[in-house]
Amino acid sequence: MTTPHIQAKPGQFSESCLLPGDPLRAKFIAERYLDTPTLINETRNMLGYTGFYQGTRVSVMGTGMGLPSCMLYAEELLREFNVKRLIRVGSCGSTDPHVALNDMVLAAGASTDSNANRQQFAGYDFSAIADYRLLNTAVEKAEREGVNVHVGKVFSTDSFYHPNRTLIKTLNRMHILAIEMEAAGLYSVASRYRAEALAILTVSDDLLTQQHLSSEQRERSFDHMITVALETAVC
Ligand code: ADE
Repeated sequence: MTTPHIQAKPGQFSESCLLPGDPLRAKFIAERYLDTPTLINETRNMLGYTGFYQGTRVSVMGTGMGLPSCMLYAEELLREFNVKRLIRVGSCGSTDPHVALNDMVLAAGASTDSNANRQQFAGYDFSAIADYRLLNTAVEKAEREGVNVHVGKVFSTDSFYHPNRTLIKTLNRMHILAIEMEAAGLYSVASRYRAEALAILTVSDDLLTQQHLSSEQRERSFDHMITVALETAVC
């Protein structure tokens, strides 16, 4: 079964799939962390792989950036490829003074400025929340990895270059920890398919102090995030 955006054959995806935004990240994760990775999708260069992590089959596939792109891949994976568990791995910008560069954020819930979830929910506001079992497992794995982990609310924006100059203040007032661009859409698609979903994020930008991770720092926090995501995926 192929879809407009995924050319894989039936059974080529595992029930658990990691979703980085960047397809080259998917390639890197597959080659660095999985045993015997096989390339199963390259339509539009949105690379997808299946391999084994500690003996358990896992897939990893890029989604592109933003809710619309992430949602269409999530929809096709859940509808046509029997995927049951989607774990986004990505970066975020901190909007809370207690959430520092390099920290990990587990998105328990995601608000959004996108209209995408209202489109799916007859105009109502959808409560975009993570799957509790995945969230609980990821907290345990993150604590075992020894990373600074925060569990809370994120904001999924359509606009990386947001025109609202007071946005960060507004987010902080509502105790939203970080800003990213996909989780709210991922959670609503997963909910429609009764699937499990979680966004695991590392803080690459501190939007309050305008500090950013160096590339070596990014690498280190990325490693923790992928380990937590894979261990959660196979649990
Ligand atoms: N990911 C990392 N930094 C971000 C930002 N400022 N806005 C949206 N997503 C991000």
